[in-house]
Amino acid sequence: MRSLLTCLVTVCVAAACVRGDRYHPADPGSRAAATVVNRAETSANYWAQEAQAAIKARLEHKESVKKARNVVMFLGDGMSVPTLAAARTLLGQRRGETGEEAKMNFEKFPTVGLAKTYCVNAQIADSACTATAYLCGVKTTYGAIGVNAEVARRDCDASTDTSRHVASIAEWALADGRDAGVVTTTRITHASPAGVYAKVADRDWEHNQAVLNHGHDTDRCPDIALQLVHKHPGNKLKVIFGGGRRNFLPIDVRDEEGEVGRRTDNRNLIREWLQDKEDRNVTNKYVWNRQQLMSLNDDLPEYILGLFESNHLQYNLQANLTTEPTLTELTEIAIRSLSRNEKGFFLFVEGGRIDHAHHDNLVELALDETLEMDKAVARAAELLSEDDSLIVVTADHAHVMAFNGYSRRGHDILGPSRDLDEDGVPYMTLSYTNGPGFRAHVDGKRPNVTAESDYRGLQWEAHVDVPLEDETHGGDDVAVFARGPHHSMFTGLYEQSQLPHLMAYAACIGPGRHACSGATHVLGQPVLLFALFILLTSLFQL
Ligand SMILES: *[C@@H]1O[C@H](CO)[C@@H](O)[C@H](O)[C@H]1NC(C)=O
Ligand SMILES: *[C@@H]1O[C@H](CO)[C@@H](O)[C@H](O)[C@H]1NC(C)=O
Ligand SMILES: *[C@@H]1O[C@H](CO)[C@@H](O)[C@H](O)[C@H]1NC(C)=O
Ligand SMILES: [Zn+2]
Repeated sequence: MRSLLTCLVTVCVAAACVRGDRYHPADPGSRAAATVVNRAETSANYWAQEAQAAIKARLEHKESVKKARNVVMFLGDGMSVPTLAAARTLLGQRRGETGEEAKMNFEKFPTVGLAKTYCVNAQIADSACTATAYLCGVKTTYGAIGVNAEVARRDCDASTDTSRHVASIAEWALADGRDAGVVTTTRITHASPAGVYAKVADRDWEHNQAVLNHGHDTDRCPDIALQLVHKHPGNKLKVIFGGGRRNFLPIDVRDEEGEVGRRTDNRNLIREWLQDKEDRNVTNKYVWNRQQLMSLNDDLPEYILGLFESNHLQYNLQANLTTEPTLTELTEIAIRSLSRNEKGFFLFVEGGRIDHAHHDNLVELALDETLEMDKAVARAAELLSEDDSLIVVTADHAHVMAFNGYSRRGHDILGPSRDLDEDGVPYMTLSYTNGPGFRAHVDGKRPNVTAESDYRGLQWEAHVDVPLEDETHGGDDVAVFARGPHHSMFTGLYEQSQLPHLMAYAACIGPGRHACSGATHVLGQPVLLFALFILLTSLFQL
């Protein structure tokens, strides 16, 4: 205690102290008398007890060293670290609390790490090269999926060389006799879910016409939807839930909700998916709305394809929850379906629209989608034992939302800062470096955004510095949360491409070292196993 005081005094005696006051106002933005929001927090004992409880929990926590039978990876697309801080504050404030002290469910996981997200040719990544990193274990070209960085974006020829294809952890799980599935709130052919199954030189090749538009042969470079239905491992996935019906249907065919398809090859890939399962004599079902999905509950077929929108699923706050399933419902049915395999499974679940809301500077939607994914994580954690199921929660890349100003404790996270800018004009606690929310200055001053007619509406854009059609991704690291067998492997700061290797280590699948190989440290043995694995996977692909 004494040394802490001495330290503070020393700092204040130094000249920097004066500057420190200027940078850090004593009671920022507040003209009201200081009020303490949570009385208990005024006691030193409160914080000491909080810390002691955390130490006790850590000491009592026993990490499972079993093989992870099941692995569920949750991906919050664009879920940057500031997004986590803002979302948890909103979570608490929705419960009537101050908010900052709240925790999302996955924030309670025992291990947290940081992943570096850059790609081979990109300082700031997209969802395609990052999906290749966190699902296939290889960093690659910006915009490419399931191929290594010898393939340039849109280079169809280069991507036909299968030695440049990289396998996903879903393939490693399948090769081990486990099952695999994919769930997303975006089009199922969008970059992140495509990382599970596609090998493609351009993430935009979601349907055949997109390949043709770039002058390529669709026989040599099949589109992503076609790969999902007809190629390994897409055609082995037991659960496929998302949006994007339009990429499976011809342009002159309307889907169940009246939207036309995008395909110009006259193929109905939903029918072809059903036919493929019939040909293989496996039970199957295609569903396109929530009622149909829920009616499967008691009699799940072996294979389920659920395409709930022509495009992406609706934002949770804008969806009709009678007809649209939530991410939690999709996750639960996926887990129940895949759990029928005694050997276990790999499931990928994406909260994919955090990214879209950020790109449009729609901060409330971005935070709400984050909280929706957190609910899905909570459901998975209830359904799966910590003893044999690994759950990993992370993001692919950051965004440029800033959490700023000097508002006081418990201040409305979606409101303006208590502070004003130099001209006395309000600014928001959550704003962006760039994006469509730019407002021109008037007489050299920022406009008063809080006076706008749609202020705080769900479609109201937060303000930005740099005008851009879409807000950009950020280059900062993303957090990784882990629970279950070998979770402590996920601690530290590392390349994002390590993630599938770490998951495979815990689950004892795929190439490289495994938790299960325990005593076998003899040199050569892992190499032999790896060779055998390569042989087996190439046989599987035939
Ligand atoms: C298909 O599966 C059913 C039930 O498992 C079985 O009775 C039937 O013989 C199978 N048909 C073919 C053609 O394999
Ligand atoms: C949601 O969809 C159902 C079924 O189509 C409809 O009856 C209901 O009115 C819709 N609710 C809203 C709020 O649009
Ligand atoms: C900004 O707009 C709000 C809401 O209309 C108003 O209360 C406030 O006085 C305005 N501030 C400035 C500096 O114009
Ligand atoms: Zn994005």
